[in-house]
This record gives sequence, C-alpha cells and structure tokens, in this order.
Amino acid sequence: MYTQAMDTMREEGGQPALRTAEEAALQQRFDNRIDAGDFIEAKDWMPDNYRKTLLRQISQHAHSEIVGMLPEGNWITRAPTLKRKAILLAKVQDEGGHGLYLYAAAETLGQSRDQMLDSLHSGKAKYSSIFNYPTLTWADVGTIGWLVDGAAIMNQVPICRCSYAPYARAMIRICREESFHQRQGYDSLLAMMQNGTEAQKAMVQDAVNRWWWPCLMMFGPPDDQSPNSAQGMRWGIKRVSNDTLRQKFVDATVQQAQVLGVSLPDPDLRWNEATQHWDFGTIDWSEFWRVVGGEGPCNRERLAMRVAAWEEGEWVREAALAHSRKQARKEKAA
Ligand SMILES: [Fe+2]
Ligand SMILES: [Fe+2]
Repeated sequence: MYTQAMDTMREEGGQPALRTAEEAALQQRFDNRIDAGDFIEAKDWMPDNYRKTLLRQISQHAHSEIVGMLPEGNWITRAPTLKRKAILLAKVQDEGGHGLYLYAAAETLGQSRDQMLDSLHSGKAKYSSIFNYPTLTWADVGTIGWLVDGAAIMNQVPICRCSYAPYARAMIRICREESFHQRQGYDSLLAMMQNGTEAQKAMVQDAVNRWWWPCLMMFGPPDDQSPNSAQGMRWGIKRVSNDTLRQKFVDATVQQAQVLGVSLPDPDLRWNEATQHWDFGTIDWSEFWRVVGGEGPCNRERLAMRVAAWEEGEWVREAALAHSRKQARKEKAA
C-alpha cells in the first residue's frame, strides 16, 4: 500500500531566509529545474524544506507499507484455501519489499534506516491511518485488497512522476505490484459473492460497509484544509490534489461495486449528469483526526506488534551482520 497525507502534519513553514548569494543562485537553479520538469537526484543541491518534506513523506510511506503487513499477516494462517494462502503470503511479502525500496529511497536524503524505525517505534512518526482499523473476518482481507490497495494505486500512480527521482523510481516498481494486490482482493470477494453462501455474502457487505469511509479518508483532508498541498504541488512532489484523487477513486469504484453485487454505505451517492461524476456524502473528518492522533480502534495494538516484531527479529539482524562481516573478511583475505 499506501501513502497518505503528507499534509496531515502541519509544521512546514515557508522557505527559510537565504544566507548567501551562492545559495540564492542554487535555489534559482533548483526552481528552474523543477519548472522545467527535471528530476532531482540525491547528489543534487536541494532546499532544506524540500529535503525535509520528502524525507517525512517517503519515511511515512515506508512505515505504512510495513505496518500494513500486520492486519493482513494476521490472516495468513487462517486463509480458507491453499491458493488464497499462497496469494496472501506473496502480497504481504510484497508490502515488506515496498517498505525496503522506500526506506532505501529515504536514506538517500540523509537519514539512516535505524533512525527512521526508531521514530516509528517510539510513536513519533506517522503511518497511514487506514491500518488502525481491525480485520475482523476473511472478507476484510479481500476488501483491503480491493479498496485499500485500490485507493493506494490512485494515490501512488502520480508519485511515479514525483520530482525526486529515487522516490519516483521506487514507485514505478511498487505500482506494478499494487495492481496485482487490488485484483487479488477483488477476485477473492467476487468468488464469495458469486459462489458463496448467504452468510459469506453478508460478510463481504459488512466488510465493505466498515472500510468504505476510512478508504475515502486515505486521500487526506479536503483541498481547502491542506495548507501544505500547494507547496507540494509547487515542488512537483504532489501532482494531483486530494479531492481530485478521491473523486477519481469513487468514480472507478462505484462500477466495480455494481459488478460485485455489493452496495456502498452512502445514501448520498448518486450520478451527477452535469459534472459526469459520482456525488458522495460528507466525510466525518473528526474520525480521521482522531485516528491520526492515535485514538483509532487499533493504534496501540499495531504499534505494539510492530515493536515486538522488531525486538524478536534482533537475532536475525545480528546473524546477517555477522555473516556480512565474515564475507568481507574472506574477500579481503582472497
Ligand atoms: Fe499493496
Ligand atoms: Fe504496498
């Protein structure tokens, strides 16, 4: 999965005062390159705020990938068939890989992976609010693939054109895998809706009812309440606004829900002939801010599981380091 709302943190100010003529020239050159649509590489000069904003967004994105492994990983031992188990294992493993590409991209901006993980484990860093909701039944696994990975794709495809090249390159690979994630989720729900029992169909509908609104929140606050979005757009980090992405997601998903045979839990959802889009109801932003602020249904559980996984994995990290030291010694001796 998934990025969310680099604009949920409200600390970015404007540009810092430039100190020297040389810095002013570098800034001008950077602005020109951004305006020309050039990509910025790790070795290039960049303004401090650009670096900080990217570091925060990419590390939040990386954290979301690895925290996102938890709610679904929970179901690997309970998958209903061997085929579904193999698919889910591959998907959860992909998410771990996405975390690795993204931590590597973030490291090029000057922070170590240990520092980033420390921020996550101490509760200082954010990850996507969507992973603070519970996965109560097997239908939640399919619904996460269909809706959560679906929303993630909508969010992430424009990041393939992000002005920071290491991030853009990581996203190209990630997006290819996300589309498999979305399809496997949809396929799993379709199997239940077409061949399942009444109880299984009800289970799918219940999961969709619970995930729909949190998925709409994944695109971040409305444009008029996203003070950092404009700067993100100016820098070519953000290419499409939160509200535009959210509308695209709703438009694409309504038809998929119809084919699936589930309803979306919004009485205000209707086709608007004039705009050629689906209108939808009001999002409860107080819920979003509550979950972002640490008070979602599973915030504490997810963080505790993540920290436990880190601590239990210590011997693996130690063994890998010992192995690499041994290899280096061997190579030196040869
Ligand atoms: Fe995914
Ligand atoms: Fe992912």
